[in-house]
Amino acid sequence: MLLDTNSPLYWQESYANGRIPWDLGHPTPTFARLAASGGYPPGEMIVLGAGRGHDARLFARHGFAVTAVDFAPHAADAMRELNDPAHPVQIVQKDIFELDGEKWNGRFDYLLEYTCFCAIDPARRGDYAALAAHLLKPGGLYIGLAFPIGKRPGGPPFVVQPDAVIELLTEHGFKLQHREFPHDSVPSRQNIEELIILKRQSRI
Ligand SMILES: C[S@@+](CC[C@H](N)C(=O)[O-])C[C@H]1O[C@@H](n2cnc3c(N)ncnc32)[C@H](O)[C@@H]1O
Repeated sequence: MLLDTNSPLYWQESYANGRIPWDLGHPTPTFARLAASGGYPPGEMIVLGAGRGHDARLFARHGFAVTAVDFAPHAADAMRELNDPAHPVQIVQKDIFELDGEKWNGRFDYLLEYTCFCAIDPARRGDYAALAAHLLKPGGLYIGLAFPIGKRPGGPPFVVQPDAVIELLTEHGFKLQHREFPHDSVPSRQNIEELIILKRQSRI
């Protein structure tokens, strides 16, 4: 049976079969560098499509109040199991596109993105950018690794072009603060991911 990537069942099946090539088994070194840099004061952070939560737990350990969202039951269960009571992450098992609303909007200082944007149906990228703008406070930061950069058709992962992601977010009220090809990407992702950091402007 062909499953739709918009469905948690698609992702659940990947987890159940142990087909999770995106999972590094540890936080990405680039986010570890940012978290330790002191350049980003702890605040409220949301991680979209958090998977097993390695990056979410990293920022929680650095004092951030982290909410990690994933709609695959297996991912949410893994995050519950791996959660550290000393630095707990709030785990939300939900479709990110159902987050819009009073409880969530304007609540976060940071939105962390890694391989969720490339997991969703490309037709929903505009919805994703609008969601990011709604979730963040004015002045809040979108911190993302745009991955995988490329041209091949199909997915997931659906390829990204960092310039296009930046343009889309700019259309939704963001301003680019920083971009770089990280020197500390894991070897298999060197030069096919770009760190992009954008600030939500006060008016959207
Ligand atoms: C490629 S994996 C990345 C997981 C994690 N960010 C990582 O880097 O290890 C994409 C994750 O996004 C989740 N996901 C995809 N679409 C989603 C949606 N609409 N709402 C919530 N989670 C979603 C999947 O269940 C999966 O765990």
